[in-house]
Amino acid sequence: MNAPAYVKNPKLIAWVAEMAALCKPDTVYWCDGSDEEYQRLCQQLVDAGTFKKLNPAKRPGSYLAWSDPSDVARVEDRTYICSEKKEDAGPTNNWMAPADMRTTLQPLFDGCMKGRTMYVVPFSMGPMGSHIAHVGIELSDSAYVAVNQRIMTRMGKAVYDVIGTDGAFVPCVHTVGAPLAAGQTDVKWPCNKTKYIVHYPETREIWSYGSGYGGNALLGKKCFALRIASNMGRDQGWLAEHMLILGVTNPQGKKYHVAAAFPSACGKTNFSMLVPPEGFKGWKVTTIGDDIAWIKPHSDGKLYAINPEAGYFGVAPGTNFHTNPNCMASLDKNVIFTNVALTDDGDVWWEGMEKDTGKLPDHLIDWQGKDWTPAIAKETGAKAAHANARFTVAATNNPALDAQWDDANGVAIDAFIFGGRRSTTVPLVTEARNWTEGVYMAATMGSETTAAAAGQQGVVRRDPFAMLPFMGYNMSDYFQHWLNMGQTLKASGTKVPSIYCVNWFRKGEDGKFVWPGYGENMRVLKWMIDRIEGTAKGKENVFGISPSYEEITWTGLSFTPEQFKTVTHIDKAAWVEELKLHEELFKQLAYHLPAEMTATKAALAVRLEA
Ligand code: GTP
Ligand code: SPV
Ligand code: MN
Repeated sequence: MNAPAYVKNPKLIAWVAEMAALCKPDTVYWCDGSDEEYQRLCQQLVDAGTFKKLNPAKRPGSYLAWSDPSDVARVEDRTYICSEKKEDAGPTNNWMAPADMRTTLQPLFDGCMKGRTMYVVPFSMGPMGSHIAHVGIELSDSAYVAVNQRIMTRMGKAVYDVIGTDGAFVPCVHTVGAPLAAGQTDVKWPCNKTKYIVHYPETREIWSYGSGYGGNALLGKKCFALRIASNMGRDQGWLAEHMLILGVTNPQGKKYHVAAAFPSACGKTNFSMLVPPEGFKGWKVTTIGDDIAWIKPHSDGKLYAINPEAGYFGVAPGTNFHTNPNCMASLDKNVIFTNVALTDDGDVWWEGMEKDTGKLPDHLIDWQGKDWTPAIAKETGAKAAHANARFTVAATNNPALDAQWDDANGVAIDAFIFGGRRSTTVPLVTEARNWTEGVYMAATMGSETTAAAAGQQGVVRRDPFAMLPFMGYNMSDYFQHWLNMGQTLKASGTKVPSIYCVNWFRKGEDGKFVWPGYGENMRVLKWMIDRIEGTAKGKENVFGISPSYEEITWTGLSFTPEQFKTVTHIDKAAWVEELKLHEELFKQLAYHLPAEMTATKAALAVRLEA
């Protein structure tokens, strides 16, 4: 119950005591982050039926969890930004006044951990002690959360040295919202129909109720590293982004760093681990991060990025040796799988793996514990793995991990990429002519919704900077923050990073993706580097600069000029419609919308008319 002797921060000790008094757990357990502890908690989860230990001959050190079918993704409609003023949360966030929210949550949290253990999980987002890093303490009544946090963050007692006697930390409270009465047997995946994912940006606090899944429960990730950190970044002059970070080294050994924002389940993990196709001899892509970037301007005038996370919580379905061989290699041991299917020999399976083996398995137990056969799937359409099934794995499992991934100073960013999932309209790649036009592209980005969030899938919505579900303050103020960042960079006199907009997802008349994607995205990445080096001229269009067919390296791929046209052509009528959606977005965001945004749109409309 009592804090261990190495915890020396009175404020932290008092806060844990206060939360324990409110949540009323049976016990309080202070995690030390050791391997012994991880093994012990995993075994405890096996004993409770939450985890199945996978066949050690097939998948050593790995476990499978199946969640409650109602608790499978982020819940955006239950996510709140509780700033003092509604305007500061902005029109894209759910808002409640902090005092009202505290009144709402108080009775829910009162006794919410009865019959359970409260785990005290100390974690650092970013290399421990890095000037870009920040620490948090998550209190959770879920052992599943504790073991996932050990993989996803730098978790353990060294965090208490960083906090010391008076250091700052972000307090994060999480409960599955399922107290146990005396003698009541637990379910395998406790959760509550009522859910609240709550952020108090001014006081930098997170309170999460009712879900045990992903971003709802692993509070270091979206809640801290994006929603709270975006507030820190605005106040302190840096950026917290929904971006992968990769290193790309050319055959001459020159290395570039790229940060790319794609909405949830739109290809960040894939792109960050890209294996260049044959024909790109000597090119190498290495992973710094696959989901989140914290980016700070330095005294040399450049932007430096770190990955605040230490592991990947990635989408399993669709991942195979063709789409992402490095990811498959990362998953060969010490993985926690959630909501994938179980094979008869104690291994895992998900849709997409049949591409590697050439056939579907004869029999599986699906993510809901039911029998699955190809015949059943054909008849009912049942998926063996949930579409948002995920793996949790340490970054150090990744064979393509960048040597600098843990560098406390981060890596200097040469280019930003923004990309949505669009079956139509948006071309394969466009370079912004300047920072402001790049900010406009990012701000007006649209994307089809995916299974990463509860709700309807496949509908196009505006997802500015791929941050719509993760912005911790008013979206228009965030656009302004990006514009200000551009001013700071320009003033320093160094080369400002280039900004690109991409779309891997354009479909042909047959409804199939035209662009081969995955490793082949290297061809687009190389064109970007050729642009940075000044060796590709590109051609100007209404939005910016795009490659001619000849400027793309096609070695090893047959992709005709006609196919290229299908993924790059700009349909004026479609863009007139698209601009109406920009207009709608700007109406919604009118409060504090930077004048540069409307001016850029007006200029674009004129060029489109011409
Ligand atoms: P979050 O973890 O939710 O933030 O997502 P992410 O952006 O890391 O998504 P991820 O890389 O896991 O992408 C998952 C989905 O995108 C899968 O359905 C992939 O098959 C698909 N995908 C990724 N890259 C490509 C690509 O280049 N082309 C096509 N067509 N699909 C892709
Ligand atoms: C996303 O939805 O963008 C994710 C997964 O990266 S989760 O951590 O659940 O938010
Ligand atoms: Mn994400």
